[in-house]
Parts: sequence; C-alpha cells; structure tokens
Amino acid sequence: TQAPRAQAGLVVVANRLPVSLERDAAGRPHWRHSPGGLVNALEPFLRGRRGVWVGWPGTTAHDLPALPDDGLRLHPVRLSADDVRGFYEGFSNGTLWPLYHDVIVPPEYHRGWWEAYVRVNRTFAEAASRASGPGATVWVQDYQLQLVPAMLRELRPDLRIGFFLHIPFPPVELFMQLPWRTEIVRGLLGADLIGFHRPGGARNFRWLAHRLTGLPTAPHPASGPGQEMVRLGDRDVRIGAFPISIDAAELDELARRPDVQGRARQIREELGDPEKIILGVDRLDYTKGIDVRLRAVHEMLSEGRIRPDRVAFVQIAIPSRERVEHYVRLREDIERAVGRVNGEFSRVGRPVVHYLHTSVSREELAAFYSAADVMLVTPLRDGMNLVCKEYVACRYREDGALVLSEFAGAAAELTGAYLVNPHHLDEVKNALAEALDQSPHQARLRMGGLRHQVLTHDVDFWARSFLAALSDGRPGVPGSSVA
Ligand code: ADP
Ligand code: F6P
Repeated sequence: TQAPRAQAGLVVVANRLPVSLERDAAGRPHWRHSPGGLVNALEPFLRGRRGVWVGWPGTTAHDLPALPDDGLRLHPVRLSADDVRGFYEGFSNGTLWPLYHDVIVPPEYHRGWWEAYVRVNRTFAEAASRASGPGATVWVQDYQLQLVPAMLRELRPDLRIGFFLHIPFPPVELFMQLPWRTEIVRGLLGADLIGFHRPGGARNFRWLAHRLTGLPTAPHPASGPGQEMVRLGDRDVRIGAFPISIDAAELDELARRPDVQGRARQIREELGDPEKIILGVDRLDYTKGIDVRLRAVHEMLSEGRIRPDRVAFVQIAIPSRERVEHYVRLREDIERAVGRVNGEFSRVGRPVVHYLHTSVSREELAAFYSAADVMLVTPLRDGMNLVCKEYVACRYREDGALVLSEFAGAAAELTGAYLVNPHHLDEVKNALAEALDQSPHQARLRMGGLRHQVLTHDVDFWARSFLAALSDGRPGVPGSSVA
C-alpha cells in the first residue's frame, strides 16, 4: 500500500511516468527512463517546480518497488493486462496513432478497444482529481488521454485544465473516419486551452469542433496566427499552436564536455575512421522513415555516389511498442534492409551500416550527435521531432549538416536544414549528397541559423508560453505561480 500523497498546484497527467519498470536478464525489476519525446521535453521543466506527474509505470505488476525520489513527485496509475491490450496497444497505438499519422498503416476500429480507452481515461481523470489541490492547474498530455479533460472537469469544476497533443492533428477528412469522432472532440473541449504543434492542427480542430458539435467558433480576440476559440455556453476554450522543444542549453553544455568530445573521437575510431559519419536516431516506429534512409544509402552505394570505405551510417533505434503487430513487422523489415546493404557493400570487420537496437544514455547520445557529419531525419509524418533539435543543440562549433523531412513539425522552424520530401527518393539522395559535400562556410551559415532558433526557443519557452496562455491573466495561476 502506498502512503497518501500531498495534493499539488501543478499536475501533469501523461500516459507514461518519466520512468518505467523493466526487468533485467535475471528477472530483477528496476526503474528505467521512459522512451520518447514527451518525457524528454517535460521532465526538465517539471523538475524543481514542485508539481506532480500522474502516469502509468509501464507495468501490470502489482508490487511496485519504491519509485525513484529525485525531485519529481510521481503518482502511478495502475493498469491491468486487459487495459494495456485494449487502451494502449489497441485504441492508442492501433487506432489513433496511425490515423493521426496520415494512415501510413491502416488504423483499426474495434468497439472493445474504444471501451477500454473510455475506461482507462476515466481512471486517469480520477487519479488526476485526487492529485490536484483546490483550484490547481492540470496539464493533460497527448493522444492517449483525449477524454480526460471533459471527465476531469465534471469531477472538478474548480480546476484550470490544459491539454497538449504531442503528435500531429490529422486533416479533417481522416479524422472524420473515426467512429467516435464526436466523443473525442467533446472530451478535448473539457479543457480551457488545447495546444497543438502547428497552426494547421489548431485550425482543423476548430473546424471539426464546429462541424461535430454545432458550437460557435471564432478567432481569439487577444492573439495572432494559430489562435482559435470555441464558445461553450459561458466558457471559452482557446485553441493554439505551441511548437515544443528541448532543453537546448543542457545539451549544448553536455556536448562541450571533454569526456563527451573524447567519446565522439573514440566513436569515429571504432567506426574505422571514415571520412563521413551519417547518423539516424529514432524510436523504432514506422512513421520515422528509417526505411527511406536505408534505401537512399543503398542506391547511392550502388551508383558509386558514396563509397563504402569512406562513409559509415549509424542507425540507433530504441525498441518501441514491441507487442503491436506493425512494429514487429517493421523491425523485421528494417533488419532485413540493413542486412542487405551490409551483405552487398561491407568488408570483413568493416560494415557500412551500424545498426544498434537499443536505448543509449544522454552522454552517449550527445557523443554520437557530436561525431556525426550528417544527421538524417526523414519521418513520413512527425508531430515535431526532437531528435533534429537535439543534433543542432550539440553542434556548438557550427558544423555538421541536418537533412530533415518537410513532414516533421520541426521543418517549419528549422528552415536552414536540407529539407526533403521523404516520398521523393531522388530528392533525399541529392540532399544527402549536398550535405556530405558542403563547405565549412556553408555549414556555418546553415548551422548558425539553426542554433539560434533552437537555443532561443527551448522547452522552457514552450512550457511557459502554454501555461501563460492557460492562466490567461487569472491571478494566482500558472503564469505567476509556476514560472
Ligand atoms: P517520439 O516522441 O516520437 O519518440 P521525438 O524525436 O520527438 O520522437 O523524441 C524522441 C526522443 O527519444 C528524443 O529525445 C531522443 O533523444 C530520444 N531517443 C531516441 N532514440 C533514442 C535511443 N536509441 N536512445 C536514447 N534516447 C533516444
Ligand atoms: O508523442 C509520442 C509518444 O507517444 C509520446 O507519448 C511518447 O513520448 C513516445 O511517443 C513513446 O511512446 P510509448 O509511450 O508508447 O513508448
């Protein structure tokens, strides 16, 4: 049994806690940093602000070892094996994730999954209500919890409720496929502020809110582009664009550390001292376009545009959603493609593609970013993509090149990157060739601009902007109390 916990004035509610319970080879449980951009973005912001984080500890085990006590107050939400199957693997990652990512794989619609989604959203809303002090600010995160705002408002009308979607909000034609589209829109409208990465997402949502509920909508009087509003009786719901970012200063500092630079040199040596290192870093997800990169590299090797003795391609892929069917198939496809390139172009002891199916520490990641001459980020669709911003933050010498998909939210800000359409393979190959051949002068021009953008628009800026808009001038709420 857990001791009763104090209630808080700022509560983050996310599907996952920033740590998940895993087991080592001997079956011993241990806490591990959770994968993904949401945790990496929010954790540094919340640490030290005396807020609490409500989320799932990544296990169905009944007995949890003591949670790490390192400045964050964590409230675990228990899920059963049935919940995980229907809510997490099913509706969240078999229905919503592919639907919101341009149906790259077909979404599946099952009533049983929907019922699990409703049930688990209610569990999260109840947990958030217990964790929140009177008049608290509750910030609900992402597509797994879209019903929580309305459920929580019903339980606790005293709360100020924000919602942020970390993935793209789809075009209206795709959203309209969803059999439970009206319920999802009504769930989100329980919030006072709904945030998206891009103004297009905010616009799509406003249109749908009007179409599916018949409520009047209007541009928000107090704001500029990307700000919309829906009127609900005597309550206004603001809808806005808030592009998320990273703790850029922390990574910049990490990359400058002599041990990290030393490790970057060692990585280059271990790769056989190639002239150029190309890097990809992603969760192993079909939205990330890892196959696009492998095809581009394969064709360029076949055409002699890059030479296997001069170039090394490192792909670090963090295991993800390993029980969901499309992820199992993706892993097989990627590993087959890696084998094919290496089979054709490697020599003994000198593979061309170095594929690591693992999670690495922040220090190791910063060393890889520092070692890489070209970073390849080619998602077919991505809400923002933090990896490209992390690479930029690590390039304090203003060198290196970023090849970035137009279909990542980050492309709107990182216009100095080599932008590509990942569906157009020749364009990807040409951009990669240009990035590999760029002069130090071109590198400085591009990277200088990218760094300015990333260092001045960090995660703290993002969170403060969102919370300031959520408080909307009300006394004693986020803008002032948590800043
Ligand atoms: P998503 O949220 O879809 O996973 P993002 O690019 O926004 O995509 O965020 C991914 C986060 O996961 C980044 O902060 C990145 O550093 C981290 N990450 C990705 N791959 C690895 C890995 N192999 N080891 C450690 N961290 C990783
Ligand atoms: O926004 C993308 C996301 O679902 C985040 O919630 C999380 O950062 C990441 O992907 C990891 O996914 P999961 O929690 O399913 O492992």
